[in-house]
Amino acid sequence: NTQSTTVYRASILHFLDDPDKAGEDAYEFFEDGALVVENGKVITTGNFSELEKTLAENVEQVDYRGHLLMPGMIDTHIHFPQVEVIASYGEQLLDWLNNYTFPAERQFEDKEYASKIANFFLDELLKCGTTTALVFGTVHKQSVEAFFEASEKRNTRMICGKVMMNRNAPDFLCDDVESSYTDSRELIERWHANGRQLYAVTPRFAITSTPEQLEKAGQLLEEYPGVYMQTHISENKDEVAFVQELFPQAKDYLDVYDQYKLLGERSVFAHGIHLTPREHQRFRETGSSVSFCPTSNLFLGSGLLDIAELEKEQVAYSVATDVGGGTSFSMLQTLNEAYKVCQLRGNKLSPLKSLYLATLGNARTLKLDDKIGSFKAGNEADFIVIDFNATPLMALKQSKCKTLAEKLFAMIVLGDDRTVKATYVAGQALHLRDSGGN
Ligand code: GUN
Ligand code: ZN
Repeated sequence: NTQSTTVYRASILHFLDDPDKAGEDAYEFFEDGALVVENGKVITTGNFSELEKTLAENVEQVDYRGHLLMPGMIDTHIHFPQVEVIASYGEQLLDWLNNYTFPAERQFEDKEYASKIANFFLDELLKCGTTTALVFGTVHKQSVEAFFEASEKRNTRMICGKVMMNRNAPDFLCDDVESSYTDSRELIERWHANGRQLYAVTPRFAITSTPEQLEKAGQLLEEYPGVYMQTHISENKDEVAFVQELFPQAKDYLDVYDQYKLLGERSVFAHGIHLTPREHQRFRETGSSVSFCPTSNLFLGSGLLDIAELEKEQVAYSVATDVGGGTSFSMLQTLNEAYKVCQLRGNKLSPLKSLYLATLGNARTLKLDDKIGSFKAGNEADFIVIDFNATPLMALKQSKCKTLAEKLFAMIVLGDDRTVKATYVAGQALHLRDSGGN
């Protein structure tokens, strides 16, 4: 047998379902567990002592005892060209876009610069334990070429798209109806389902597209079933008012996208903080999802998304960083802030629910749960190794925690890139944190 099998020994946690629906049956936890990987795919997971008996004697063993092995985390909304925009002072959405974001995105006209930042961005995600993301490029086709080339090199499963925007932005950042369509089409043909890469049709938001451009976006979705759609919605109250002005005939913000056939199970709408009951109903009816971006929503002063309301309204949602509006690449830090937003809304976000969302939950909203998000047999072997004791403070706190839930909660709240000891992509170690703390 020439196939290479590796068994990873560690504590193992992964989800089979939503903890709010399935309770204790929602997850598997093996204190002394094993993950068996062959040719980049998961063979099985379980108790080490039981699986050991089934394995050939010469199987390679990697010993991560004392650590926690989990599926790689998934980020459903992030902008790779906004790495340098992170932590820009003083503005809410519309001024933040004009003063910081648009000038930064201008640089991605230069493919070489785009490649440099795409590589930096992917390494930063991997350091933080994120192995899949739904990613905005810029208006420049070459920005997305650069991104997919960098992702292909790492064999990461990434979804990305060229921004479509043709008004209410500087000329240097605007395309036109026809070029946005043909550029997107060429990128889809070249990259969608090429290896692990996937494409998302990406109208920036209703403010920066004419009706004719939104119609072209809808046409692309119709012509290429299986591609994604990503955009922004109801993030900021001034934004919502401007959209009503631009589209006076629309029932509400979501109705603009609805009219151009942009809703569906592979459509991801970032933010969705200020939605009406009618919009919730259309989300539910079409299987569209909201991407919850807590660090961004706090940083830009956008508002407190009520995920308990989304649960009640049966609106699908996921969790995301939204860097550079967001302030961390770490999904752990993102879950930490999500917890605080829920506190302010009078709700509790449990650690098991949080980690479900960052893995299987986000995979489900992206319709990728048959490939990633859990250790189901046959899934792609994207996984991370968590070090509960990465710093003296984390170690002290962990020593006081009794239950698994307490340990996971402290790990999330105190966690960041230091917590991620290793990141594996399709069975390959792409990030190993050195003991010097980098
Ligand atoms: N709305 C339109 N564009 C953007 C963006 O780049 N970031 C955020 N947070 N919201 C947007
Ligand atoms: Zn965004």
